[in-house]
Amino acid sequence: MKVNALTIGLAAIASLLGAGEVRGAGPPRPVTEADVGPGKQVYLRECSACHGERGGGDGVAAAHLEVRPRNFLRASFKFKTSPDGVRTDDLLAVLERGIPGSAMPSFKFLSPKERQQVAAYVLYLGDLLEEEEPAPAPTSTPPPTTPETIARGKVVYEEQLCGSCHGPGGKGDGKSAKGMKDSDGFPIKVRDLTLGGFRGGSRPVDLYLRFTLGLDGTPMPAYGDNVSEPDRWALVDFIRSLEVPQKPVVYPKDPIKAGRQVAAVYGCRGCHVLDDGKGGDVGPDLRLSAQKLQPEWIRGFLAAPRAAGKIYPWRPHRMPELGLHAPEVEVLTAYLGKMGKRKAAQPTPALAQLVTDDVNAGKVLYMVRCTECHNLGKVVETPPIKQQGPDLIRVAERIDYTWAQRWITDPKKIDPNTKMTVPGLSPKEVDQVRAFVWWSSLTELGKTAAR
Ligand code: HEC
Ligand code: HEC
Ligand code: HEC
Ligand code: HEC
Repeated sequence: MKVNALTIGLAAIASLLGAGEVRGAGPPRPVTEADVGPGKQVYLRECSACHGERGGGDGVAAAHLEVRPRNFLRASFKFKTSPDGVRTDDLLAVLERGIPGSAMPSFKFLSPKERQQVAAYVLYLGDLLEEEEPAPAPTSTPPPTTPETIARGKVVYEEQLCGSCHGPGGKGDGKSAKGMKDSDGFPIKVRDLTLGGFRGGSRPVDLYLRFTLGLDGTPMPAYGDNVSEPDRWALVDFIRSLEVPQKPVVYPKDPIKAGRQVAAVYGCRGCHVLDDGKGGDVGPDLRLSAQKLQPEWIRGFLAAPRAAGKIYPWRPHRMPELGLHAPEVEVLTAYLGKMGKRKAAQPTPALAQLVTDDVNAGKVLYMVRCTECHNLGKVVETPPIKQQGPDLIRVAERIDYTWAQRWITDPKKIDPNTKMTVPGLSPKEVDQVRAFVWWSSLTELGKTAAR
C-alpha cells in the first residue's frame, strides 16, 4: 500500500496505545471475523441472486442484467474514499444508497447490524477482512461556489480532456465513449453528467473523491496526482453546474411498453421472467403471477414487498424493497394486469355467499388433500418444515377466485413446473375445498380489519 502522512500518524497512535494484534500500519476493520457467519446468512438471502453464491458476480440474475453485479473475489470497488483500498464505511454507504443506474438496490430496509455483517462478509470474500482499515483520503472544506470557480472548472475539464469520454457538454457522448468496456470486459456507459443523481453519492465531497481517486475497474482515471486541490473543487462546481432539471417521466401509453421501461430501471428481469418469456427465476415467473394476483394486492406488495412476510417457502431469496415511486407502482400494476390477460375476474364472494354445506365438506377435503403442503393461518396449522406452498390464509385478498378453481383442478396445466399435485378431485370437490379456504381467509381478514 501507499504510505501517506495520515497512515503513519495512525500507526504511531496505534503503537502508543499498544494495539498489539493489529497487523500493518492502520487500525483494524470495525467489523470482525465474528460478523462473517451471520453476514453469510444475510448474503445468501439478499445478495447471492445477483452477486453469486460464492461472490463471483455470477448469480442467477446476473446474465439478465445490463450492468453486471460486482465480482467480490476481485476485491476491486468503484466508490471509495481511500487511495489504499475499500473502507468498511464505503461498503456501508453503498448498501445504504444502492447504485442508481444499476439493479443494485438500497438495503436501508435491513437493520444496521445486518448491513455491517454483510459488509464483513463482502470483505471476507475479497480476502480484505484481515487487512487494516485504509486511511481516508484527505479532503478539505469546499470553497464557496462562484461564477469564477465554475469557469475555472470548465478550463480544467477541457485541459484534462474529460470531454473525450464525457463529451464537451458532459452528456456522456465523447469521442471515446462508444464501445467502452470495464476491466472484466463488460460494456460500460460513460456517465451523463447532466442527469445529476450521481452513483457514488451527490455531495460535493463525493464528486471530489470520485475524480481524485478514480473508479477502480472502469476506464475513469484518477486525477488526484495531476490536478491541484483548488482545481478539483473548481471541477466539482463545474460538474454540478452541468446538471439540467429532469422533466417528469412520461410513460408510453401501451402498458406493456411502460412496464418494461420501469422494469429495466430496477432490473426486475434479473429475478423474474417478464412478459416476453425472458428473465431469471430467482422470483416467480411474472406471466403466471399476473394471472392469479389481484391488482390491489400487487399494488400493496410492490410498495412494501416485505410487509406480508415470505410468500413462497421454498424460494431461498426474497424480493428487495425497491423504494418504487407511486407512479412506478401504478405502471407496474397495469403491466401485470395486461400481462395476465384475465377475462373480467369473478369478484371474490362475500362471506355470506359461501354455502355452509360446501364449506363443511371442503374442510374435510382440505384436511386430507392440502395440509400436506399448505398452512392455513391458525385455522389448520402445518409445521413450517412441511410447508411447500404459500400460506393460504390471505388468499382472498391475493388470489383471483376464478383462477383458483382452474388451479386446484389441474395445477400442472397452468404451470408444468409446480410441485403442487392434487389428482382426482371432482369439479364439486374443487368448489368445496375452495369454498372452505376462502371462508377461512375471509373470516381471518374480517378479524384483522376489525382490530
Ligand atoms: C438485483 C441485483 C443485486 C442485488 C440483489 C445486490 N446487488 Fe450489489 N450490485 C449489483 C450490481 C448490478 C452492481 C454493480 C453496479 C455498478 O458497477 O455500477 C452491484 C455492486 C455492488 C457493490 C460494489 C460497490 C462498489 O463500490 O464498487 C457492492 C459492495 C455490493 N453490490 C454489495 C451488495 C450486497 C452486500 C448485497 C446484498 C445485501 C447486494 N449487493 C445485492 C446488483 C445487485
Ligand atoms: C477514459 C474515459 C473517461 C475520462 C477521461 C473521464 N471519465 Fe469520468 N467516467 C467515465 C466512466 C466510464 C464513468 C462511469 C463509471 C461507472 O459509473 O461505472 C465515469 C464517471 C464519472 C463521474 C460519475 C461518478 C458517479 O458517482 O456517478 C464523474 C463525476 C466523472 N466521471 C467526472 C470526470 C471528470 C471531472 C473527468 C476529467 C477530470 C473525467 N470524469 C474523465 C469515464 C471517463
Ligand atoms: C433480487 C431479485 C428480485 C428483484 C430485482 C425483483 N424481484 Fe420480485 N420477487 C423476488 C422474489 C424472490 C419473490 C418471491 C418473494 C417471496 O416468496 O416472498 C418476488 C415476488 C414478486 C411478486 C409477487 C409474485 C407472486 O406470485 O406472489 C411480484 C409481483 C414481483 N416480485 C414483481 C417484481 C417487479 C415488478 C420487480 C422490479 C420492479 C421485481 N419484482 C424485482 C425477487 C426479485
Ligand atoms: C404437494 C404439495 C401441494 C399440495 C398437496 C397442495 N398444494 Fe397448493 N400449492 C403448492 C405449491 C408449491 C404452490 C405454489 C405454486 C408454485 O410455487 O408452484 C401452491 C399454490 C397454491 C395456491 C396459490 C396460492 C398463492 O398464494 O399463490 C392455492 C390457492 C393452492 N395452492 C391451493 C391448494 C389446495 C386447495 C390444495 C388441496 C386441495 C393444495 N393447494 C394442495 C403445493 C401444494
